[in-house]
Amino acid sequence: MKRMFKKLIYKLCLLRNKLISRDDFNWKKYHKNYYNQIKRNEKEYTLKLSDDFSIIKGNLEFHCNPPLDKNHELLYQIIFDLNPSSVFEVGCGNGDHMYNILKILPNVRIIGCDLLPKQLDFLNERNPELKGKTFVEDITKNHIPTTELVYTQAVLMHIQKGNRHLDALRNIFYGSSKYIVLMENWSRHNFYSDIKKISNESSFIWDDLYIYKADNGKQIVMVLSKVPIINKRLNYIKIKNNKEMLKYLPWNSFMI
Ligand SMILES: C[S@@+](CC[C@H](N)C(=O)[O-])C[C@H]1O[C@@H](n2cnc3c(N)ncnc32)[C@H](O)[C@@H]1O
Repeated sequence: MKRMFKKLIYKLCLLRNKLISRDDFNWKKYHKNYYNQIKRNEKEYTLKLSDDFSIIKGNLEFHCNPPLDKNHELLYQIIFDLNPSSVFEVGCGNGDHMYNILKILPNVRIIGCDLLPKQLDFLNERNPELKGKTFVEDITKNHIPTTELVYTQAVLMHIQKGNRHLDALRNIFYGSSKYIVLMENWSRHNFYSDIKKISNESSFIWDDLYIYKADNGKQIVMVLSKVPIINKRLNYIKIKNNKEMLKYLPWNSFMI
């Protein structure tokens, strides 16, 4: 009952923010909210991998106890499958995804940025191995260094003020030389239309754009690619609208 009430309040807040054109959170205070959510999630999910994954016939499989969050599981499987030499996380928060990707792909060059210095303090304390691999940046304002693959997990969905999420997407395209992997709540923006719109701008930096989804039966991720994705283990399906992304909503695990 208490949980349902909290969810209702959360949804009403999202609606209010949409109506008055505000981001989902007051970012100045967000680090406390995030820290508490991570502590709660730690009781239900494995957040940092140890030796609880294996590569069986080229497929990445997890045997974590407690389980991995289904969004994280698919995100890691896609990045493993695309096998980039360099990766950038936008809105890296506590750094657990960067840590896990380095476990799975130990030779990858990985960098990340976050809007909030306090988030990076948390990251450095929790994942000291990532020291020097992250920096403070507002993705809606500036370009990022180029890597082969750029990804976000639960970041663009929270950028709701005006059309700043479009600026964020433009900067993400600028920073990626091949792939963009987005794990977001697909109901918070019309991601497909927004990406199509950006790709028609004269300043659009990619020569070609292929928009795919990958679905592991529990979750859907969006994969943007400069080249057709062929000869990979996972199934990448071209999409034609945002509706195709909404299959598994509502997503409760996107409450952070
Ligand atoms: C919901 S948290 C997700 C963090 C991390 N990706 C995860 O999955 O745990 C959203 C993160 O995006 C960051 N963020 C929000 N707006 C941003 C912006 N304009 N530029 C860069 N990072 C931003 C926040 O500080 C926060 O760490």
